[in-house]
Amino acid sequence: MKRVFSGVQPTGNIHLGNYLGALKQFVELQEDHECIYCIVDLHAITMPQEPKVLREHILDVAALYLAVGVDPKKSIVFVQSDVPGHAELSWILTCNSYTGELSRMTQFKDKSKEKESAPTGLFTYPILMAADILLYDTNVVPVGNDQKQHIEICRDLAIRVNNKYKTKSFIVPEGRFLKEGARIMSLDDPSSKMSKSAENIHSRISLLDEPGKIKKSIMKATTDSEGIIKYDVKNKPGISNLLNIYCEMSEYTVKELEEKYQGCGYGDFKKDLVEVVNEGLKPIKERYEEIRYSGELPKILEDGAKRANLISAKTMNRVKNNVGLGIN
Ligand code: AMP
Ligand code: TRP
Repeated sequence: MKRVFSGVQPTGNIHLGNYLGALKQFVELQEDHECIYCIVDLHAITMPQEPKVLREHILDVAALYLAVGVDPKKSIVFVQSDVPGHAELSWILTCNSYTGELSRMTQFKDKSKEKESAPTGLFTYPILMAADILLYDTNVVPVGNDQKQHIEICRDLAIRVNNKYKTKSFIVPEGRFLKEGARIMSLDDPSSKMSKSAENIHSRISLLDEPGKIKKSIMKATTDSEGIIKYDVKNKPGISNLLNIYCEMSEYTVKELEEKYQGCGYGDFKKDLVEVVNEGLKPIKERYEEIRYSGELPKILEDGAKRANLISAKTMNRVKNNVGLGIN
């Protein structure tokens, strides 16, 4: 069975982009893959976090994983900082990376833009992500399209270390990106991706948003003045983004939606989309409420960390041997 690894940062506001870009695939993959799903808290501290809030967000993400359908009997669910191998391998990879390649990462460029001085962790973020993936001999990494560059550098690092030490330290993983239009864009500005941190709360739909808030966000979403429901990312990015969301949250293809809404105005289309999104999120919210405060989460995460540690310790042993570290 092929092994799958992916992670989500516990930074609050898990949104439709995270769900459609990543979480939805997590659930599908666990049927015929050995899946490992991580809550990447070490990545979260690349930006300032309030310790108490971070702890809560870790449990929020864990509960959401389970609420969307990740099954801890089938998949390993754990918190990154509970497994020391991540930070350890990250260092070995850091020593095999170049500042030039890291400077080219668009996420780093975006996040450090307008800052006088950027945190080093933000710069080396992709290396920690590579360590996450390589630590588990991962074959497949389901992520949103925004992570393509990070997957590439992970592959480069794996190949580089294998070649340099003339041993097979790592399996070279493949990214698994959502089909066309995988990127869910901001509702207020369809030229930027839907993000957890945008100031305007109507730019995103968080999975736990109230139906009334969701309605407001969708009805306010930026479109264009043409009044034609057609998929055209270049000229009609707002409507195309809404079509994508509709399509991903329903059984319809984009083509079928274009036909269904031929001659309709944006208002009617948006009203239906509100229904579809609210209906789709309802069971997730219900399960989340059941799980989040039930007391079963810490046990699930502890068990997950134990299982993750067993796998990662084997990889660390092999890699340290290949690189010549330690005495056994
Ligand atoms: P993050 O919130 O950065 O931890 O992202 C968690 C997962 O959601 C990653 O696989 C991302 O690629 C994915 N993701 C984040 N934002 C979006 C978006 N706007 N559209 C699609 N996927 C996304
Ligand atoms: N960088 C990813 C994001 O922001 C989160 C992440 C960290 C991740 N480590 C990972 C995703 C390993 C997949 C595999 O979305």
